Amino acid sequence: MADLPGRVAIVTGASAGIGQATARALGRAGMRVALCARRRERLEALAAEMRGAGAEAAAYPLDVTDAPAVGAMVDDVAARWGRVDVLINNAGRGFAARFEDTAPQEFRDLLELNVLAVLTATQAVLPLMRRQGRGHIINISSVVGRRGIRGRAAYAATKFALGGLTESLRMELRGSGIAVSLVYPIYTTTEFHDVETKRVVFPRMGPVQSVEQVARAIVRCVKRPRAEVYPYWPVRLLAVLSAAAPGLVDRVMARLQR
Ligand SMILES: NC(=O)c1ccc[n+]([C@@H]2O[C@H](COP(=O)([O-])OP(=O)(O)OC[C@H]3O[C@@H](n4cnc5c(N)ncnc54)[C@H](OP(=O)(O)O)[C@@H]3O)[C@@H](O)[C@H]2O)c1
Repeated sequence: MADLPGRVAIVTGASAGIGQATARALGRAGMRVALCARRRERLEALAAEMRGAGAEAAAYPLDVTDAPAVGAMVDDVAARWGRVDVLINNAGRGFAARFEDTAPQEFRDLLELNVLAVLTATQAVLPLMRRQGRGHIINISSVVGRRGIRGRAAYAATKFALGGLTESLRMELRGSGIAVSLVYPIYTTTEFHDVETKRVVFPRMGPVQSVEQVARAIVRCVKRPRAEVYPYWPVRLLAVLSAAAPGLVDRVMARLQR
């Protein structure tokens, strides 16, 4: 079990939704939190709110696809607080379009944010975590990273890619003291659904989670690192069923998405 007070976390995508709720929850648990996203005002307001509540927080306005900016942020956090214990790769974007309506450049742009930016930020913190002999990388995937559905080919592909990247990294870091976790939220009420490209809309399947529920699951994972986190546990069953009987799951999903 990790003791959280005084430890240092970087949260990407902290200006809204799951990242913002997670940053607040980590601050309440006593962690020092570096807040990253593009919208400066939102980050500064959150940092001020967290400091007002007794936490240590710093705003880092940047685009996570800008590798030099991400590297400079990691160096600054390390200089400010002496270490980086946890990196939460949460910044991401949705994309709702049929496979045949997805342009290659749109897919490249989505990969750039949902996958390549995770690689960049993780490579930026790993040398420091290796020197520390400990650390924790937490990547935020999606239920759609376990099971593709209609209208989500490109988005699902980025989240499946994130799964492979995360599993391989976890194996490579075994014994290093650095934990690697993958979180699979279900539909969560955030701006995500308003800001994503929406070229097709299918009926939503299954329940809805709050950002606080997802943030609680992430904080539990920071305290006690796990390989995989399912903030809504039945998704684990879906993952197993989909691997064992994909045709059956296709039929059930097609009915639910009708
Ligand atoms: N909401 C859901 O239903 C759901 C379900 C499963 C998984 N997820 C995953 O959960 C994560 C968070 O999603 P959310 O629902 O909290 O979305 P959100 O409310 O739209 O927040 C996305 C965050 O990412 C930041 N961001 C986007 N592009 C960025 C960039 N280029 N550089 C830096 N920051 C960037 C945004 O801040 P700025 O705009 O200020 O940069 C914002 O803080 C994503 O990885 C998403 O795929 C969401």
